[in-house]
Amino acid sequence: MNKSVSQTDLHQLETERLILRPFRIKDAKHIFEIRSNEDVMKFMDSSFHGSIEDSEKFVADNIKNQREGKGYYWAITDKSTGEFMGDFSIWSVDKKNDRGQIGYSLKKQYWKSGYMTEAMNEILLYGFKELGLHSYEANINPMNEDSRKCLEKIGFNKEAYFRENYFFKGQYLDSEIYCLIKSDLI
Ligand SMILES: CC(C)(COP(=O)(O)OP(=O)(O)OC[C@H]1O[C@@H](n2cnc3c(N)ncnc32)[C@H](O)[C@@H]1OP(=O)(O)O)[C@@H](O)C(=O)NCCC(=O)NCCS
Repeated sequence: MNKSVSQTDLHQLETERLILRPFRIKDAKHIFEIRSNEDVMKFMDSSFHGSIEDSEKFVADNIKNQREGKGYYWAITDKSTGEFMGDFSIWSVDKKNDRGQIGYSLKKQYWKSGYMTEAMNEILLYGFKELGLHSYEANINPMNEDSRKCLEKIGFNKEAYFRENYFFKGQYLDSEIYCLIKSDLI
């Protein structure tokens, strides 16, 4: 590897409308906007960020994980303005089985414009071709219609439905598991 290129810089990608670039600490303010918004968090089933410090820790942890090869994290940005629109992660990489869990979100003003499908398609292809991944898994709240639609558009299959397997905020929630294997996309 060229020593002037850091590991985190290797993963910048481009689509028709987007630049998908590695996270920077300065992205914390955007992550805070996303993870403190009730509509965005409605079916994420993870903790709200109550302060910018929560988001700084989140971004710093993700950057560390990426450096250690445990996951990959992208900022989804507008190609023409550079504006931060959302995030996409392949987290919890299972190296033995070349399998990654995915997670994603967009600021609300960028919903319903096809941006997530565009980003997801590019990143998942990159993972198969360049990161040596063989399959992906997405775990969604069954009420998260918009997330399900993204996954189905890409070609994910529903492989499991777990009843009340996830305890969050005083309730046992159901989960749907969607999967994509390399031959589904390539
Ligand atoms: C999940 C989430 C990213 C989906 O966003 P989204 O905007 O619905 O998905 P896309 O960016 O792929 O856009 C698809 C929609 O844009 C519409 N669209 C408009 N212009 C388009 C274009 N040029 N190209 C493609 N689609 C376009 C499509 O018709 C589609 O709408 P539909 O779902 O009503 O059919 C978003 O709802 C979100 O951030 N939710 C909160 C976080 C979350 O729940 N994350 C998932 C946790 S599992």
